Amino acid sequence: MPGVIDRVLIVTGAGGGLGREYARLLARAGALVVVNDLGGSRDGTGSGTEMADAVVAEIRANGGTAVANYDSVSTEQGARSLVDTAVREFGAVHGIVNNAGILRDSSFANMGADDWEAVLRVHLFGGYNVTHAAWGHFREQGFGRIVMATSTSGLFGNFGQANYGAAKLGLVGLLNTLAIEGRKYDITVNAVAPMAATRMTADIAPADLLQRLPPAHVAPVVGHLLSDECEDTGMVFIVGGGSVQRVQLFTNKAVLFPDVPSIDEVRDNWGRITDMADAQPGANPVG
Ligand code: NAI
Repeated sequence: MPGVIDRVLIVTGAGGGLGREYARLLARAGALVVVNDLGGSRDGTGSGTEMADAVVAEIRANGGTAVANYDSVSTEQGARSLVDTAVREFGAVHGIVNNAGILRDSSFANMGADDWEAVLRVHLFGGYNVTHAAWGHFREQGFGRIVMATSTSGLFGNFGQANYGAAKLGLVGLLNTLAIEGRKYDITVNAVAPMAATRMTADIAPADLLQRLPPAHVAPVVGHLLSDECEDTGMVFIVGGGSVQRVQLFTNKAVLFPDVPSIDEVRDNWGRITDMADAQPGANPVG
């Protein structure tokens, strides 16, 4: 089973938390890993080389192969330089984990444009930037594996995370189309909504819950999605604390109005329109 052996894999935001765990597991499984991290704080301020360097040192000490990269994924130029690092150091790029992330939580009433934009820049634009920089390589070689880090905050909502939730579900919208466009080139695009104790969740979830959520539980699912063998695409999984589950959008049976309905007719049918009892996965054909 080739798995990820000799595959060149980029993990963004791999200087700590989940990304570090992904990078370490992938290197142990024989991948050549680019450990990207801007090295800043949780809110996206600051930068430094220590975080990425420490993970690379750890991987090398265990006999693995890795190289550090300190570019920000939030700019096109940074993402291009990151992909160039993979190609320069290892001669190719086969997979990406779009994992880098920051938090700027506040209620929507208090959310300024700065906090909105900063979060979208790293998560959503970062996912676009890195994926776009690698896409041509994937198409040319007829192979690519992409994993997006999404979140239950985007899938289901979470108080105080309007910016973060929008960015995280934006990545699912992106992957839905990339899965279609990548299919004929053997490019798969999937997402994982992790649940793990990291600096991001340290003061958000209760300590006894966090104790049950070591990042190590998430990494093997990411490893499988990056492997040669896994050809599934366009899927989303919630993973953490020993549980792995798939998430999917459902639609119910369409209520049909052959003639343009009045507002009152819509109201009168509202119960049927909102009833999900007969819902099926995906976009149900109308009728
Ligand atoms: P973390 O804060 O430990 O890791 C994020 C890493 O991204 C940091 O090392 C940070 O320096 C790096 N980073 C931030 N901005 C960057 C940029 N512009 N360019 C490159 N690197 C940058 O947090 P954690 O928990 O490991 O998060 C990893 C991913 O998983 C994030 O996308 C997060 O939103 C997502 N996630 C995590 C959950 C959890 O339970 N920990 C829940 C849902 C999603």
